[in-house]
Parts: sequence; structure tokens; C-alpha cells
Amino acid sequence: MKVISTEKSQVLASKVAANLRIGISYTKFEKFPDNELYLKTERPNAETVIIGSITDSDSFIQLLLLIDACEGSDITLVLPYMGYARQDRKFNDGEPTSGRAIAKALSGGINRVITVNIHEDAVLDFFSVPAKNLSLASEIGRYLSTLGLDNPLILAPDAGAAGFASRVADTYGWETDHLKKTRISGMEVQIKPQKLDVAGREVVIVDDIISTGGTLATAAEMLREQGAKNIHAACVHGVFASGGYARLCSAGFSSVTSADTIESGSSQISAAELIAEAIRNQ
Ligand code: R5P
Repeated sequence: MKVISTEKSQVLASKVAANLRIGISYTKFEKFPDNELYLKTERPNAETVIIGSITDSDSFIQLLLLIDACEGSDITLVLPYMGYARQDRKFNDGEPTSGRAIAKALSGGINRVITVNIHEDAVLDFFSVPAKNLSLASEIGRYLSTLGLDNPLILAPDAGAAGFASRVADTYGWETDHLKKTRISGMEVQIKPQKLDVAGREVVIVDDIISTGGTLATAAEMLREQGAKNIHAACVHGVFASGGYARLCSAGFSSVTSADTIESGSSQISAAELIAEAIRNQ
């Protein structure tokens, strides 16, 4: 068995390979003059683990090309971050079910797929091969325990993330709650105050995805008004679109941490061990 990765998931993929004590193939990524993507990887083994997050169109095309390059191999596809999974249904007439379109395109040529904190579990059913989703909630809890926080309150920014926040909090028996979010536009959200006892407390807002940072920046503003002592942010997928990371720093977060499902300077939490374990047990 060997691991092969797309360009943007090479650090995580190398860690998974090291954890499994198997090799990682070197893949050369280039572009033709007309911007078509080109890649050349090593001769595939009988079993291959392809690891690549879908963070943009190029990373998606690289996955399709790698799957094709590994034709004939038994392929486990690992999607640490599956972009487009937020569109799990047609919200308006004329829209695609984007998560289904992506899942269908990737299903051809692979034997199974592993995702990490996929935004909507329903998207797993769109794959025509066995699909398994892993959760980094405990890993985030363990990371937070290293920050030396005093009796932190683990907050979800909305009801949808409450289950995730609760699993993070369960790691060390911390208290948990959620806020009520109203989305005003693609960039702006409003958090309506709840009866939260945050005065003088260390608060950690956790979510599966931080995209523009609008949700958390607005929440922090409200929590500070209620007297929160320090506010930290932790998520699985740090997309940080439109300057999202700087937005949170400027909003006064004491720390902003994400996992390496999207590799960046904020990736303090690794999904490698969890992914390796899932591959070992399959
Ligand atoms: C949405 O349901 C997700 O869980 C996140 O809350 C959302 O993606 C965050 O977006 P943003 O950072 O742009 O507010």
C-alpha cells in the first residue's frame, strides 16, 4: 500500500503515511500553457490511499486525475475537507445539489471513501461506494486542554454545531452551550444574545468550518459585551476566505486554531492519526 496526495494535502498525507509506516509517492504537479492541469505520479501499488481536500477547482481536478492515474489499484479516497458538501440539496429552483455532483464524479474508479467532519452527513449517501465519516471533536478537545484554560465554556455558534461542541466539551467534561445565529448576507451574520453566563469566563467557540470568520467575529463581539474574559476559536476546517483569519485576530480572539484538513499556519491539530487508524481498521 502507498499514499498519494494532491498538492495541497501533502503534509497531512505524509503524516498519514508515516503513521501507517508506508511510503508516500512523489507526484509532480504542473500546468499546461492553456492552464489545463498535468500531473505525473509513481507507478501505483496494488493498494493506494489517495488523500486530497477539495478546497478549490484545481484540487478537485487533481483528485480526478490521480484516481485515473491509479487505475487498476484498490483505491481508498480520503477527503479531509470536502468542499461543496454544504450544498447537500437544491435550496432554490435551478440550483445543483453540488455535494451530489462532486460525490458522483469521484465515485467512479475508487473502492471506498473516508471524509472528516463532512458538513452534511447526507452527502455520504451520494457516493456509490462505501463512505465513512470521521470526527476530530476529541482531538480538538485534547488540543484545547493544552492551552491551560480555566474551566472553559465550549460554545457552538449555532444550533447546528451544538452536537459537535458537545462532543468537544465531553473530552474533559467542560460546560457547553450554543448561540442563535441569523445570517444577513453571505458575508454578515447577527448573533442574538442568549442567557449565557460568560462573565469572567474563558470561552472557546468551536465550529466545523470557519469560512469568512463572520459568524465567529460577530459572536465574539456579543460575548465581550457580556464580559467574557478571553475568547478562543477552534475549528476543523480553516477555510479563512476573504481574510477570515486576520478578521478573527482583529476581532480580538486570543487564539485561532484549525486542523490540517486544510493546511495552513493555523493547523495545530492533525487528522493524521485518526485517518491512519481508519485505514488500518478497514
Ligand atoms: C455553516 O453552517 C458552518 O458550520 C459554519 O458556521 C460556516 O461555514 C461559517 O461561515 P463563516 O465563517 O463565513 O461565518
